[in-house]
Amino acid sequence: MTGFIECRNVGKTYDSASGAVEALRGINLDCAPGEFVCLLGLSGCGKSTLLQIIAGLESASDGAVVIGGHELDGPSPLTSVVFQDHGLFPWMTVRKNVAFNMKAAGVKPAERAARADELLEMTGLTAFADRYPHELSGGMRQRVGIARALTTRPKALLMDEPFGALDAQTRGHLQEELLRIWESQRTTVLFVTHGIDEAVFLADRIVVFSPRPGRISAVVDVDLPRPRDPESAGFMALSRSLRHKLVPDLQGAPLG
Ligand SMILES: Nc1ncnc2c1ncn2[C@@H]1O[C@H](COP(=O)(O)OP(=O)(O)OP(=O)(O)O)[C@@H](O)[C@H]1O
Ligand SMILES: [Mg+2]
Repeated sequence: MTGFIECRNVGKTYDSASGAVEALRGINLDCAPGEFVCLLGLSGCGKSTLLQIIAGLESASDGAVVIGGHELDGPSPLTSVVFQDHGLFPWMTVRKNVAFNMKAAGVKPAERAARADELLEMTGLTAFADRYPHELSGGMRQRVGIARALTTRPKALLMDEPFGALDAQTRGHLQEELLRIWESQRTTVLFVTHGIDEAVFLADRIVVFSPRPGRISAVVDVDLPRPRDPESAGFMALSRSLRHKLVPDLQGAPLG
């Protein structure tokens, strides 16, 4: 089957003052429409680089990315990005932040307001619509980032460790909310994490990366029924096997 997001032999070498850094090599990846895929790997293995390339924010040195049948040449209107540090505008209220992408896309004001209200409702932020980002908790700010990313009805959400800076409890709560939103919107999700349990909780499929240059070292289907119980035998067995897939990479690997 042809994927909705396809990476064909993608490679990336950065030129830096201290010499060339080969961050990715020979990445072949297909995400089906509606699939939830986690990219799992240690720090510095090129996960963010790949996500940025798929988002059209960074160019590949080799190979190509195809989204919805079209080879990528800059950011695609079919995808939206959720960053780790939320990237909200501090001088805009929550509602204005959520509506921002639609304004940039030329959506009419009345439609913008209606869609923003719908997304605020979906992400449980209605009561905070007129607050500013600094008045929110970290978890709420990430929810604003997700609401904003969804306003343009993307076919795929590209998420780079969006819950990485949150405490475990808030992270768990937002993971459940994300699954609920994903199930209702049927978007494809490509989710970067270095958390094994996070990947097992969320993904249909986990793509494991080896360190620099980042390559795909394993692809694991997660067949556990949802909602998943991190204390179940199946969950723990899969986490353990993924840990073994990641741990050999620790030996002698340059991190970061
Ligand atoms: N703009 C850049 N210029 C030069 N090297 C870069 C640049 N961005 C990333 N790199 C290098 O590319 C490699 C991959 O970085 P990347 O940020 O993609 O890793 P990552 O898997 O997302 O790591 P982390 O889990 O820490 O976020 C690293 O060695 C990094 O130093
Ligand atoms: Mg990263």
